Formats: sequence, structure tokens, C-alpha cells
Amino acid sequence: MSPSNGKNQSTARTVKNLKTQLLHPGQIELAAALLRRGECVAFPTETVYGLGANAWDEKAVAKIFAAKGRPADNPLIVHCHHQDQLFDLAREWPPEAEVLMDEFWPGPLTLVLKKKPAVPEIVTGGLDTVALRFPDHPVALELLRAAALPVAAPSANISGRPSPTRAEHVLADLGGKIAAVLDGGPAPGGLESTVLDCSSLPFRILRPGSVTREMLGDFAPLDIDPEESAQLPSKFRHYTPAASVVLVTGNDREGEIQRQIAACREKGLKAAVMAFQDSPYAGVPLLDLGNRSDLREAAARLYLLLRQADEQGYNLVLIEGLAETGLARTLMNRLRQAASQVVQT
Ligand code: TXA
Ligand code: MG
Repeated sequence: MSPSNGKNQSTARTVKNLKTQLLHPGQIELAAALLRRGECVAFPTETVYGLGANAWDEKAVAKIFAAKGRPADNPLIVHCHHQDQLFDLAREWPPEAEVLMDEFWPGPLTLVLKKKPAVPEIVTGGLDTVALRFPDHPVALELLRAAALPVAAPSANISGRPSPTRAEHVLADLGGKIAAVLDGGPAPGGLESTVLDCSSLPFRILRPGSVTREMLGDFAPLDIDPEESAQLPSKFRHYTPAASVVLVTGNDREGEIQRQIAACREKGLKAAVMAFQDSPYAGVPLLDLGNRSDLREAAARLYLLLRQADEQGYNLVLIEGLAETGLARTLMNRLRQAASQVVQT
């Protein structure tokens, strides 16, 4: 082994050989100590599990990118437990952004603001802005308070996999690569936060979430892009299961799904449908989005179902499209990213 590549190899070994501790909420002090010591700790939030590291510590943040296999130019969200941390991280924020903080923090809304020079480049992917979020989850808040640090945290999945909504998903993706997972039970929201660019007016939604454009529009000027949910950030594609995922939209969704199921059976392939529990596809395995009248249930289950689709080895997953308003627009944004094909009927 040459000395020049010895360093890289030993880094790779360290990432692989960690014994990942599974911690319970009674061990928050231990989790906080690991963060202060420059380790990566996964923790629950009200949206999905995040993989945290001290945002001031470049070496610690580098471990996040290594563990996830994340491209270096995809910036991270910095998690705070108090609005005053803004003064350390952002150099400017318009009064309209402050209105949003008062209204939606703590909660699943991430604000992109002009950054202070001290925020390390590795956190922001070299951008002049920083994404800030004040999560609304008791375990996350207790951890952030105990660590007394701003914590940079992307979703705690391997890049390209669905975001984890349970500690076991984190272990499946990152076990052996990170110091610890703090298990706070299932993440209740299930979809990542809304990301809103507040670095210039009008504000712009970069990623839809459960804080919808309808909710934000009551409090701040928004640049509404009618195609928002159809946009695919092709560089950072997400949520792609191994099965072919076909999203069926339009008026003849049911007919098209029935036809594709029949075609799949003829070829001897395994198909499943992801739909609400009252959907009419008898005899086909259902990836159950729950009750049609409660989209929050569908949001909470979506990533679990995409992981199950992989575990159960389906060749094809057919998904019924939704009408694109409110939370359904956010669900459709994630479904389009999971889909290998969108069929408009
Ligand atoms: O709910 C969530 O937001 C979760 C939990 C853990 O907080 N986090 C999460 O992080 O989803 P991540 O890294 O998977 O997604 C962050 C998104 C990415 O699309 C990233 O490109 C964008 O936020 N982002 C971060 N900083 C940004 C910036 N300065 N400007 C524009 N986009 C930014
Ligand atoms: Mg992510």
C-alpha cells in the first residue's frame, strides 16, 4: 500500500467499522456528547430522521457526506432550538421571513437566508445562503438544547434512498457508518420540510412540504411556479425504489392500472398498487396509503411503503395520482421523484 492512498483507505475503514449505538430518549445527554465530540448522530424530527453533526465542525460535517455518499455540492439544513441562533448563522433576513418564523417555527418549514461568513462552506455547498430549520419534535429539541450547537442534518438515508421515518430505516442504510441513532419512534410527518428561499423577494418554494403554498401565501409574498410539483431536481434525484414505479394520472387511472396489472400477470411478474384502502384493485397486493380523507396518514406512510416495495421484491408498483392542491401537491412531488414513468390518461 502506498503512503499516499493510505490515508483515504483508513478513512474508509473508519466509516465502515463503527459500531452504531441505538440510543433511547433517556440517553439524550450521551447523544449530545457524541455531537460535541464531532461524531454523527441520527435523530428523529417531526418530518423524517436527520443525520446530525456540529455545524461549526467541518470534519464532523464531512462525516455526514461520507456516510450518506452525498454529493458535496448539495447543501445541508442547519437545525436550531432557538430563534436567537439566527444571529450566529444568518447575516440578513427580511421582515417577511420573521413573520414566517413567528407563525411556523418550531415546525416543518426551512428558510434559506444570506449566511454569515463563519458558516462553513461544507455546510452550504459553497453557496452564499444557509438553510435554517427549527424542528417541532420533543426529542430533536431536547438533543439540540443539550448539545447547545447548531446541528447540520440532512435526511438520514443513503443518498438516493427514501428518507427514513423510523430508527430501523436509519440502521438499514447507515448502520456501521455512524456513531449512533437516537430512537424516538416513527417520525409523525413523514415528508421532508418545505424549503423556502427567502434570500430575495418574492420568496420561492424550492421543495414543497406539509407547510403548503396556500398556508405560506397568507403571510408572505410568494413567487408561485405553476409547474412546481412537476419540477425534478435531476441532479439530486431521490426516493427511487428498485421496482419500476409507474404513476398514473388523469381520468382513467383505474382502467390504466387494471390494464397494467393484467399485462404484468401475463408476463409472470409481481405487481403491487399503492393506493388508498378503499381502492378497487381486488387480488393485487396493496401498499396502503390509508384513509383517502386524511392525507396526513398517506404522508406519514409513503416512505415506509417505498421501502416495503423494495423488501417485498415487486417488479412493478402502480400508483394512483392525486389532485394537486395542498398536501396532495407535496405528495405528488415525492411520487414523481419515485416514479420511473408517469402515465397521463
Ligand atoms: O425535514 C427535513 O427538512 C429533513 C429533516 C432531517 O430536517 N431534512 C432534509 O434534509 O430533508 P436534506 O438534506 O435531505 O434536504 C435539504 C434540502 C436539499 O434539497 C438541499 O438542496 C436544500 O434543502 N438546501 C439546503 N441548503 C440550501 C441552500 N442554502 N439553498 C438552497 N437549497 C438548500
Ligand atoms: Mg434528503
